[in-house]
Amino acid sequence: MSVPERLPENLPETMRAVEIAEPGGPEVLRPVTRPVPPPRHGAILIRVAWAGVNRPDALQRAGAYNAPPGASDLPGLEAAGEVAAVGPGVTGWAVGDRVCALLPGGGYAEYVETPAAHALPVPKGMNLREAACLPETCFTVWSNVVMRGRLAAGEVFLVHGGSSGIGTTAIQIASALGARVFATAGTDAKCLACTALGAERTINYREKDFVEILRAEGGAHLILDMVGGSYIPRNVEALRDEGRLVMIAFLEGPQADLNFAQIMRRRLTVTGSTLRPQSDIAKARIADEVRAHVWPMIAGGRLRPLIDSEFPLENAAAAHARMESSAHIGKIVLEM
Ligand SMILES: NC(=O)c1ccc[n+]([C@@H]2O[C@H](COP(=O)([O-])OP(=O)(O)OC[C@H]3O[C@@H](n4cnc5c(N)ncnc54)[C@H](OP(=O)(O)O)[C@@H]3O)[C@@H](O)[C@H]2O)c1
Repeated sequence: MSVPERLPENLPETMRAVEIAEPGGPEVLRPVTRPVPPPRHGAILIRVAWAGVNRPDALQRAGAYNAPPGASDLPGLEAAGEVAAVGPGVTGWAVGDRVCALLPGGGYAEYVETPAAHALPVPKGMNLREAACLPETCFTVWSNVVMRGRLAAGEVFLVHGGSSGIGTTAIQIASALGARVFATAGTDAKCLACTALGAERTINYREKDFVEILRAEGGAHLILDMVGGSYIPRNVEALRDEGRLVMIAFLEGPQADLNFAQIMRRRLTVTGSTLRPQSDIAKARIADEVRAHVWPMIAGGRLRPLIDSEFPLENAAAAHARMESSAHIGKIVLEM
């Protein structure tokens, strides 16, 4: 995106937003008034109704995940609302369209600008509260589980953090693809939620060893992991020959003691990615795939966001505190 354009006259000049006053705990999230950003070339301006809260927002708030160059410094990686203005060069979107979008940042605000190619129509029959929960998790899960991890029907798929926003989406997408889904989670209530979403077997990792359970199945073809740390060598053990491990976060830390001979001997693949720093073109390619493959799953009733709780924008600090308590099951959303 290039030079900022002018804001249409019917729009306000300022908006309510929540900013990160300084790196720290949830209390550093501070309500502020900011200028409404004019949509740049190739971008749309969204009047936000709901914004999704994601773990990376909490990392950014803590000073561990900086906004990429050119992105808003405000947190917020996904939102739903209606198109308030379109920038030069944009086709396919008109003012008033219902939209949900992946954002480079800035979702914790009444208006947010994002490349038009990262926006998707709100699925039929879905409200804006639910639609705000889709982009970050669907883009992350599809790009890592399918584009990178090549999950196929009939394969054994293990997702850690099964009750997280990412986990609840991964369980549903993998089930819709015809995979056999295994999920780990930290409480029996979380395990029940994973089963209700389509997991064949859920593992309360505080009581049972996921390696043992997966080995008894012949091993996982694909593991999606957000824990890292001590899970890294255990994931390798839980994979079958030719298995793939995809890392998307390191909640327990990025370091591990690993015998790489197993990777060679059993022809394993260890890979991973983060969504936010990828190029606009790469994200547009993911958006096209999500629209082509995930949106029909929603239309067919195979995927629906599981919402844990909602908070008013000004109470974003409480939303972050809930997320970091890990008591939630599914997604947390902010209402504008
Ligand atoms: N790579 C990417 O592009 C990308 C994009 C989006 C999100 N992510 C990452 O994916 C993960 C899930 O994101 P989300 O927004 O869905 O977050 P979330 O809902 O807060 O999920 C995190 C879950 O991980 C589980 N967990 C397991 N071990 C943990 C540990 N050691 N510390 C804390 N939690 C632990 C927790 O449930 P239990 O009770 O089961 O432990 C918790 O609910 C986050 O780590 C996030 O940073 C990566």
